[in-house]
Amino acid sequence: MNKQISLMNRSFLDVESLSREEIEMILSTASSMKEVMNRDIKKVPALRGKTIALMFFEASTRTRTSFDLAAKMLSADTISFTPAGSSMAKGETLLDTVKSIISMGPDLVVMRHASSGAPYFVSKNISVPVVNAGDGMHQHPTQAMLDLFTVREKKGRIEGLKVAIVGDILHSRVARSDVFAFKKLGASVRFVGPPTFIPEQMKYLGVPIYYDLRKAIADVDVIIMLRIQLERQGACFFPSLREYYNLYGLKKELLDSLKKDVIIMHPGPLNRGVETDPEIADGEHSVILDQVTNGVAVRAALLYLILGGKQGDVIN
Ligand code: CP
Repeated sequence: MNKQISLMNRSFLDVESLSREEIEMILSTASSMKEVMNRDIKKVPALRGKTIALMFFEASTRTRTSFDLAAKMLSADTISFTPAGSSMAKGETLLDTVKSIISMGPDLVVMRHASSGAPYFVSKNISVPVVNAGDGMHQHPTQAMLDLFTVREKKGRIEGLKVAIVGDILHSRVARSDVFAFKKLGASVRFVGPPTFIPEQMKYLGVPIYYDLRKAIADVDVIIMLRIQLERQGACFFPSLREYYNLYGLKKELLDSLKKDVIIMHPGPLNRGVETDPEIADGEHSVILDQVTNGVAVRAALLYLILGGKQGDVIN
């Protein structure tokens, strides 16, 4: 491993700009963080004295909570901002809002926003690193890291695996991050969904596109089911949720015909009974809650590496 690789003081905005070595460093540091999570006392002083601002301009359960828990596990303090009840209601701009929070001295900003590119804009205008916790339809890079970590944990490798990403590719920042992440580590990726959900420009990513779910997943090792983003459906992309489920929902009969060790992933939140049969989401092939657990380890690794920790340092 190259000793020069460092994420120190760098913003973490997308997956395209990461090297394979940087991704490997994040995953390896996340393994150390997972070991801390499994201790009786889940707290180390690694980031004592640091403050992390959690600025979520869009709803979140898993990402916000896991960043908060990760920071606390490393003994950092957190300040939490949500627009509801803030002075944005009086017309304060995004940048003025962020700059006001920065004036209180946090060392790093974790930011989610409904507009693609908002974390890039903010990072160019403030002096501390920004971690993208999901921007519009563009990127969700920490989700991609936890997806890689979970697959490697379950399969022992990424290289050579076949990964299908199924569903609402059009609106999915997870798909746009996962495709780069899995390809950089040597997996082959394919997109599956109705034509209305797979934009024409996706072919430039060099990813095969399938419209038939059964054909697409017959030989895969990993299936990433995407949530139908009901809140972003400005147009009519499919006739009804029932029709979508009939054509693209993962059902038990289909699952039984796949590789015996196939794993089913989903970034959450689930639309129960739409993307999969409910019992599949809770069944033996599902690693959905492992993804949530691993989100804490991966986000702790990132906070640690950006705020000065080095790969391989003993985390006591
Ligand atoms: N996967 C994910 O981003 O979940 P949340 O929206 O709950 O953070």
